[in-house]
Amino acid sequence: MTVLSVAQGNDIATTDFLRALPKAELHLHLEGSLEPELMFKLAARNQIQLPYASIDEVKKAYDFTNLQSFLDIYYQCADVLRTEQDFYDLTWAYLEHCHAEGVVHIEPFFDPQTHTDRGIDMGVVVRGISSALHDGQQKLGISSGLILCFLRHLSEDAAFATLEMAKPYLSHFVGVGLDSSEVGHPPEKFARVFAAARELGLKAVAHAGEEGPVAYIESALDVLQVQRIDHGVRCTDSDAMMDRLARENMPLTVCPLSNTRLKVYQHMSEHPILQLLDRGLCVTVNADDPAFFGGYLLANYQALVEALGMTREQAARLAANSIQASFASDAAKASMMKKLQQVIAA
Ligand code: ADE
Ligand code: ZN
Repeated sequence: MTVLSVAQGNDIATTDFLRALPKAELHLHLEGSLEPELMFKLAARNQIQLPYASIDEVKKAYDFTNLQSFLDIYYQCADVLRTEQDFYDLTWAYLEHCHAEGVVHIEPFFDPQTHTDRGIDMGVVVRGISSALHDGQQKLGISSGLILCFLRHLSEDAAFATLEMAKPYLSHFVGVGLDSSEVGHPPEKFARVFAAARELGLKAVAHAGEEGPVAYIESALDVLQVQRIDHGVRCTDSDAMMDRLARENMPLTVCPLSNTRLKVYQHMSEHPILQLLDRGLCVTVNADDPAFFGGYLLANYQALVEALGMTREQAARLAANSIQASFASDAAKASMMKKLQQVIAA
């Protein structure tokens, strides 16, 4: 357990303080960081006709009622990603946001099936993303670990075929994840493919309890044996599950702006993240799909200040949790925690 001493702990966190805190981002879909401006640029470069006439029209379409209404548009937008350079540009643009916001370590997701099902080679996707992540480390000092997500609305066979395609690139990944339409696609559908991925030495995470029930969080833990739960906010339906998550120090990668944009909560003032934090759960703040939900990591922290009055002490604990919950080495975590301590002591 890390002890943080934050001067003036009850003070509301300022934007400068939030930016200065070294932070890790553990729940970010690279395809969800595709800004409309880059989407138009790639459409022109690849001679693709978009179903939108202007950037304004795109932004108007980003009016979601639930997860599925978002996913339908999100998969459509990803069609502009065709070449290694496209995947590089997408990832580099995200890294530049990280650099501007004090994000020092990232573990982004990508959805290979969204691309391989369109005939794009796995190697094109992985090489484009990986070389941007490599440059992010070299030029911006941002460390990273890439996570390959299986699409849960597709079959177990399709997930196995994806894992097979990924085998030549194993050294590029730190783990596997599970995303897309949650309800009706429980974690146990992917028990065998997660077991195979763990056998290959990969870490495991899964979206659970975003819209789906507490039972999905339970099976992500017990069947998929994940090391983090992505979202997990529906744990608030069960005292027993909240107690278990706290006892096991199981990280939840929570995405406040995503949850309000997808109507998990009608207003940020209803968001339970700080209650979960103060109950002893290892919650972290993340952006999920920032180009679609109106903000990157810093905007998510700021939203918690505006709607929930988040203090410096709470913000520092959330940032510390993000570092501790990452798959970085113990030495890298210690170095990030030291910088965090310096910021909060300043
Ligand atoms: N893919 C991209 N964003 C997602 C989310 N919030 N939930 C499930 N799948 C996703
Ligand atoms: Zn997500």
